[in-house]
Amino acid sequence: MAMVCLSDFEAYAKKYLPKIAWDFFAAGADDCSTRDENLLAYKRIRFRPRMLRDVSMMDIRTKLLGTEISFPVGIAPTGFHQLAWPDGEKSTARAAKAMNTCYIASTYSTCTLEEISAAAPGGLRWFQLYIHRNRAVSQQLVQRAEALGFQALVLTADLPYTGKRRDDVRNGFCLPPHMKLKNLEGAFEVCKMSPLDPSVTWNDIYWLQSLTHLPIIIKGILTREDAELAVRHGVQGIIVSNHGGRQLDGGPATIDALVEVVEAVQGKVEVYLDGGIRKGSDVLKALALGAKCVFIGRPALWGLAYKGEEGLQDVLRILQDEFCLSMALAG
Ligand code: FNR
Repeated sequence: MAMVCLSDFEAYAKKYLPKIAWDFFAAGADDCSTRDENLLAYKRIRFRPRMLRDVSMMDIRTKLLGTEISFPVGIAPTGFHQLAWPDGEKSTARAAKAMNTCYIASTYSTCTLEEISAAAPGGLRWFQLYIHRNRAVSQQLVQRAEALGFQALVLTADLPYTGKRRDDVRNGFCLPPHMKLKNLEGAFEVCKMSPLDPSVTWNDIYWLQSLTHLPIIIKGILTREDAELAVRHGVQGIIVSNHGGRQLDGGPATIDALVEVVEAVQGKVEVYLDGGIRKGSDVLKALALGAKCVFIGRPALWGLAYKGEEGLQDVLRILQDEFCLSMALAG
């Protein structure tokens, strides 16, 4: 089967992954209106293309907090990569390094942070954090990530509780016994009470800052009010995100929330976006509306499900080629 666009990888993953894994990756909250809106919103946005502008040379590199990446698409944090491919997050780290882009490793990885680092030494990696009720668990993760050379902390703000994903409830989703949340071993068991702290507030940014020298990026911001608070609390970046529509159903598509966030921060911090990126032209639309870089969640999992790190590299390469072509054709 020729893999031409990201939907081809989606179709492959749907066909070959076990149903329970596919359903977990695909899930949105409630009736999935925000998940679906993330994609539909791109279709409503149209370019004003310009002609005769010499597009024979294109430079698609960018910088994330000062570190150069080869093009403005990174890998969003998603849990449980071993559900997609046996080597799990190690393959993800290798693919990201091979493509010279940024990989945000999830707290809910099925490989340890040490394994992820060793798989792709020198790759640009950020660590995504959920704050645990047991603060010592979070503190220890932050300090491990910093010691291992992760270059930023990404605090996910939109998950005080897990959204209601109906298929996961129906399937009784939990990890197969041979897979572990290896960074949290001993900290909790997956199917019992959530270990995440729902009482987290903006003040906890100060607590995080006291633990680490790493820059802090806040993920899950959708409004100007919260963007202003993020700046006031001294974060270095914002990821406009609705968790791929897996949390609050009924919120905006991320591409529709982007403009107010970009306007609110007035260039004081970098603004990134994730959610619904499926084509190079989606990347261009997000950049045109003010994002510095975008991140892909599910498409990375589809790439892994297809052929591990090679499959994920294919996904990134296709997005890169499509992005270049869109730039050129838009002038
Ligand atoms: C996620 N996401 C996520 N976010 C996060 O901060 N920590 C996590 O562990 C996870 N886990 C996770 C698992 C799966 C299966 C999905 C699909 C998503 C959200 C993720 O970072 C990102 O916001 C969305 O996936 C972006 O939307 P797209 O690209 O999947 O449309």
